[in-house]
Amino acid sequence: MAKILNASDLRSHLGGLIERTDYIQTNYKSRTTDEMVYRKTWKWAFKDQFMGAIFGEPSIRTRWSFTTAFERLGGKVVSSFGPGSTSSEKGESLYDMIMTASQMVEFLVIRQSEHLSTVDLSKVNCHIINAGDGNNEHPTQALLDAYTIWREFKRFEDLKILIIGDLRQSRAIHSLLRLLCNGNKFYLYDLRGCPDAGGWETPNSEMLEGINRKELLPEVDVVYLNRAQLERHKGEVNDFTFGLPEDLKYLSEKAIIMNPGPRREEMYRLADEDPRCRYWQQVENGMYIRMALFHNILWE
Ligand code: NCD
Repeated sequence: MAKILNASDLRSHLGGLIERTDYIQTNYKSRTTDEMVYRKTWKWAFKDQFMGAIFGEPSIRTRWSFTTAFERLGGKVVSSFGPGSTSSEKGESLYDMIMTASQMVEFLVIRQSEHLSTVDLSKVNCHIINAGDGNNEHPTQALLDAYTIWREFKRFEDLKILIIGDLRQSRAIHSLLRLLCNGNKFYLYDLRGCPDAGGWETPNSEMLEGINRKELLPEVDVVYLNRAQLERHKGEVNDFTFGLPEDLKYLSEKAIIMNPGPRREEMYRLADEDPRCRYWQQVENGMYIRMALFHNILWE
């Protein structure tokens, strides 16, 4: 049974997943004979499969993305959404909730605040995908981010990636760092101006105390922004902005700007006019990468 809890669990499968996602995305909307035969095969395979989606923390992008991906493959989805929707309200443990769900579904996609690594999943008899566990990890977000980067640069090496955000609290950032840590250079800028990122740094990452806009921005391939995770702070962190659009003029024409969403004020809406922004593509890519992931889990 697959247990996809951390981005490092996906590192060795990245090449295959990118290739399958590219195939699905390129062909999904077309109706060539090959494509229809392939589609029939997967619909046959998924027709008796159930995906349970338990989302105890807010989500629309990730929840819909998993749901639409699974249903497009021909599977069925049951879901619980919102803090009051599970028996954790009655004191049920995360372990019991997962064991209960696993008696009824083949795939379980779960988002909640507890770190999944604290739970012994060895007896759980269904595939589990972490859709965000508190401030820890969000491995499939990293996958879709990596795929978005690959579509642009066709490689996962020698990339210079500037990450600006709430380094300690952002699970999207933690997972991206872990997925692409080999062979790329990361520049990390904590929005709180706090150079201690809390152990999330990777060997190829450099913590910045400030951003030298004129020197750094022309060099980087990707600027990755993530909002202040205000729900995880107790009022001691304010929102921040990247200072756009002035800064964008220093960024290379070939660079891309990403944001896992939802966004707050870290990026002025004015920047939407900038052709280097990729956040809506990230959302679309997320659905295809999840189709590929389900597909691989069932077949491998
Ligand atoms: C991210 C998350 O939930 O960690 N959102 C998402 O799933 N696309 C990022 C965020 O909430 O800032």
